[in-house]
Amino acid sequence: AAPVQYQAETATISNGLVESNHAGFTGSGFVNYDNEVGSSVEFTVNATAAGQANLTFRFANGQTANRPMDISVNGSVVASQLSFPSTGAWTSWTTKSTSITLKAGTNKIKTVATTSNGGPNLDRVDV
Ligand code: GCU
Ligand code: CA
Repeated sequence: AAPVQYQAETATISNGLVESNHAGFTGSGFVNYDNEVGSSVEFTVNATAAGQANLTFRFANGQTANRPMDISVNGSVVASQLSFPSTGAWTSWTTKSTSITLKAGTNKIKTVATTSNGGPNLDRVDV
């Protein structure tokens, strides 16, 4: 099936803000993670059947340092310190994909910053 888009600005945000001051986002904005370990965005994703799925995160990182995040599905980390490297500017958006397994029904996908820089600016995830 075609991917479904889940906007970060409508997800559950812990220690981050919805902003729209850097062009190129989709929807109504993006999440600016607080620049600290543990800031997070959690998406609620529905799957019609259990099985493998690709997560494609759309993000920008205007600084030079990688901003890795732990990706968990239903409470288990499935991608530890997934890299979100520099995109060169806060207005330069790109995607990062990882393969996961979903259960049928409601799934919680959480993205947690693992460095004091926080996460990248996050636009959405496509599942
Ligand atoms: C700047 C930028 C923010 C970004 C932040 C950061 O303040 O405007 O969008 O989140 O840098 O370094 O995390
Ligand atoms: Ca930030």
